[in-house]
Amino acid sequence: MFDIHYHLIFGVDDGPRTIEASLELAEASIAEGVTHVVATPHASYKFPYQAELNRERLAQLRERLSGRLTLGLGCDFHLSYENLEVLEKNPRQFTVNGSNYLLVEFPDYVNIPMFAEVFFRIMSLGLTPIITHPERNPTLLQSPNPIIDWVHSGCLIQLTAASLTGRFGTRSETLTRLLLKGNYAHVIASDAHNITGRAPAMSEAFHALKRDFGQEAAERLCIHNPAAIFAGDSMPTQPEPTGPLYERAPIKKKSFLRRIFG
Ligand SMILES: [Fe+2]
Repeated sequence: MFDIHYHLIFGVDDGPRTIEASLELAEASIAEGVTHVVATPHASYKFPYQAELNRERLAQLRERLSGRLTLGLGCDFHLSYENLEVLEKNPRQFTVNGSNYLLVEFPDYVNIPMFAEVFFRIMSLGLTPIITHPERNPTLLQSPNPIIDWVHSGCLIQLTAASLTGRFGTRSETLTRLLLKGNYAHVIASDAHNITGRAPAMSEAFHALKRDFGQEAAERLCIHNPAAIFAGDSMPTQPEPTGPLYERAPIKKKSFLRRIFG
């Protein structure tokens, strides 16, 4: 499997603090059948992206792992005004292995019309935004249908492995399954941070996908699509996305008298 969203680099964000902790995480992924990982440190207000340091520490990890896990570099790119300005100056400094694929992370509050413009701006730089874990975003959990428009406009969707198995709650699991059912999701990744609460858990997700959506979907989301992203290749042909995520049931209004007298 390929895991393209992963806080593997030690001491740069809220991922592991020491090289030993990074290696312990890497070993957990190797044990569950992951062959390629993209290390994606945050670029946010709290955790500024330290390109040079990331490369140095990734090189140390590569040496210690001696080819048992292939490591790439990307970024968990927070969609802030300041970040977009930096991105426009050098569009490929945050992308997956210098390709055209960029992992983008929303703030908690998503202004829907504004983000359609933000994605347009990113795509006009020649980049493909990969929207990370929309199923965990409070605004999109309330109102997820804009995800459909973003997919049709050319964005890709990455869901968290642990969302599928319920670790982020029932609502996130429900939205994950709706996105999968409608073919609106392209990649499953772990967004691993540590070995305890935010462990990789890709094999658990792979088996849940296989059981509930079939072998082809499991391989597409955990192997073929992320492999294309890792290599910077164009995406393989995807199944056609279908239907709205939620059909709202019509609200039955009680008459004025029934509201008073029950
Ligand atoms: Fe992340």
